[in-house]
Amino acid sequence: MASDISTSLAEGRPGTSAAKSAQREAQTAEFAAAVLKGLARRPRSIPSRFLYDAVGSALFEEITELKEYYPTRTETALLKDRGAEIAQAIGGVDVLVEFGSGSSRKTSLLIEALDGLDSYIPIDVSESFLAEAAKRLAAQHAGLTVKPLVGDFTRMTTLAGAPRGQKLGFFSGSTIGNLTHEEATGFLVNAAQLLGRDSTFLLGVDLKKNLDILIPAYDDDDGVTASFSLNLLARINRELDGDFDTTQFAHRAVYNEAKGRVEIYLESLTEQTVHVRGRSFTFARDERIHTENSHKYSVPEFQALALSAGWQPVEAWTDEDQLFSLHLLRLA
Ligand SMILES: C[S@@+](CC[C@H](N)C(=O)[O-])C[C@H]1O[C@@H](n2cnc3c(N)ncnc32)[C@H](O)[C@@H]1O
Repeated sequence: MASDISTSLAEGRPGTSAAKSAQREAQTAEFAAAVLKGLARRPRSIPSRFLYDAVGSALFEEITELKEYYPTRTETALLKDRGAEIAQAIGGVDVLVEFGSGSSRKTSLLIEALDGLDSYIPIDVSESFLAEAAKRLAAQHAGLTVKPLVGDFTRMTTLAGAPRGQKLGFFSGSTIGNLTHEEATGFLVNAAQLLGRDSTFLLGVDLKKNLDILIPAYDDDDGVTASFSLNLLARINRELDGDFDTTQFAHRAVYNEAKGRVEIYLESLTEQTVHVRGRSFTFARDERIHTENSHKYSVPEFQALALSAGWQPVEAWTDEDQLFSLHLLRLA
């Protein structure tokens, strides 16, 4: 059974620094195991959550500001313009639980729209970025208890230290698109258990669209998305004694029509041998490492997925250009 590796970032607990260093060791061991396994398999692949260390999270923030990256500004506009309507459809909430919270910037809009919220629990794998975002959020919303949790949201079995009360889940940025349909179903089933009876769930989900709009969002003119991808190799060099030459790999974003998803790869520009933790990996020219998927859903497709995981679709909001959707789900 998968272990629950979530850890509270709450300060002042006895043994916190020893616990933190043990947790860091466990995180590095998990990263090493995933990278060594992922580079040995064919086709090569590394799970996308490892794209997010402190550098990766900062680069993702830069991506959200790009002219090509429509998801953040469209989702932000939906939360701004339809916030009151969304809050009314949600009803009373005591605890907001955000999966893959990142900078939590959009969350402020939701918190403002919700009346009487007591607590906010942001969950993310990117520890230092999460701590900073949680501090900023707490300073912005006086009276709101903020309890960040570091961990992998696909493997959490409990919400450590979460207060009782009516819960709303929030999963923004179409991060659910990084999961395969099977993984997304498993995630939604697990989220239902974490959030509990009568909870609601608001998810930002990217819509299917023309490739002229879609592909540049994952491969921009300034090369920020390329830097974000290549940071995975730089992270392997930093944390796992790797010797990747990041100038000898290129970022590729391609649409897989059959699977309805953008696939991101790092492609070897030459034949080369790379070492990680003392193991050698030889790449042919053009050989790829699959690093990320971003699944796209029509509104009915996502509602069918939610239903299959036990969630009842309540309402879906889209922008007028049909770029992005916000889905409200409720547990029966
Ligand atoms: C696409 S970004 C979205 C960030 C933010 N929600 C937004 O909309 O701007 C994905 C976020 O989820 C986090 N993340 C990715 N996989 C994760 C996992 N398995 N468990 C916890 N956090 C994860 C990343 O660190 C990152 O902050």
